[in-house]
Amino acid sequence: MMRAFYGIALGCVLLLTGSIVSAQQGGGAPQQGNGFTNLQVWPVDTPRAVVLNFMNAFDRSLGVECNYCHVQTNGRFDFASDEMRTKRVARKMILFRDSINVELAAIVDKPVTAGPTSVEARPGAPTRVLCASCHHGLPVPLPLGEVISEAEKAGGFNAGLARFKELRAKFYGGQQYDFTDIALVGIANTALNQKRPDDAMKYLQANLEYFPKSSQTYQAMAQVKNAKGDKPGAIKDLETAVQLDPQNNQAKNQLQQLKQ
Ligand code: HEC
Ligand code: HEC
Repeated sequence: MMRAFYGIALGCVLLLTGSIVSAQQGGGAPQQGNGFTNLQVWPVDTPRAVVLNFMNAFDRSLGVECNYCHVQTNGRFDFASDEMRTKRVARKMILFRDSINVELAAIVDKPVTAGPTSVEARPGAPTRVLCASCHHGLPVPLPLGEVISEAEKAGGFNAGLARFKELRAKFYGGQQYDFTDIALVGIANTALNQKRPDDAMKYLQANLEYFPKSSQTYQAMAQVKNAKGDKPGAIKDLETAVQLDPQNNQAKNQLQQLKQ
C-alpha cells in the first residue's frame, strides 16, 4: 500500500499541477474509502493514517496546530474546506518540496529510489528536504537577524533587544532560532555595518550577560572599538578574546595586526 502510494506520489511531482493530478486520479469518484473528499495533491485513496501522519508532521514542522490551515466553526473543523490561504499555500508547498527532492537527486547524482514523500531509509539516496528543513518550527521561517531588523525599524535598538529577549524566552533550546553566542554577535555586526557602532556595542554587552566567557563577543567588541578609533580598547578586548579561547586564530591575527 505504502509503495503504491509513493509511486503515485512521484507521478504527481512529475506532473506538478494538483488539478491535473486530481482530475486523473479522482476518476469522478467523490467519496473515497478513507472518508476524505478534497485531496488534490495526494492520491485520493491515500490511507487515513498516512494523511494524518503528514498532518501531525505539518504541525510540528511549522510549530502550529490544525487550525492554522483548517477552518473551525463553532469548534468543528471542516478539513475538506479550502477557505484558508494557509491550506492552499501548504498544498503548493507539498509540490514545491517534492520537486526540490526530485531535482536534488539529479543534482547530487543519486537515485530517486522511492517517492519523494517516503520517509524510509534508502541507502544511496540523497538526504531528503522536508518541510522542517526550511521551516524549523516556524510558519514563516524568517532568520533571527531579520526579525530583529524589523523590530528596529519600528523602535530602534531598544525594540530590537526587547524582541530578542522575548524570542529567547519563548524559544530558547528549540529548533526555531539559534541562541548560541553567535546570534547577537551577528546582529551586532549588522548594526556595525549599518554605521551604528553604539547599538552594536549595546548588543554585545547584552550578549555578555548571557555568555560572560564568549571569546567571539570580545572579538566583536574589539572591532567596534577599532571602528570608533579606540585602538587600546580594541587591543584589550582582543587579548581577552584570545585568553578566553586560545584557539581563536582570527582574534590572534587581528591582535597581531593592531599591535604593529
Ligand atoms: C500547514 C497546513 C496544514 C496543517 C497545519 C494541517 N493541515 Fe490538514 N491538510 C492540509 C492540506 C494542504 C490538505 C490537502 C492535501 C491535498 O490536497 O492532497 C489537508 C488535508 C487534510 C484532511 C483531508 C480533508 C479532506 O477531506 O480532503 C484532513 C482530515 C486533515 N487535513 C486533517 C488535519 C489535522 C487533524 C491537522 C492537525 C493535526 C491538520 N490537518 C493540520 C494542510 C494542513
Ligand atoms: C525550500 C524551503 C521550504 C520548504 C521545503 C517548505 N517551505 Fe513552506 N515556506 C517557506 C518559506 C521561506 C516561507 C515564507 C514565505 C514568506 O515569507 O511569506 C514558507 C511559507 C509557508 C506557508 C505560509 C505561511 C504564512 O503564514 O504565510 C505555509 C502554510 C507553508 N510554507 C507550508 C509548508 C509545508 C506544509 C511544507 C512541507 C510540505 C513546506 N512549507 C515546505 C519555505 C519552505
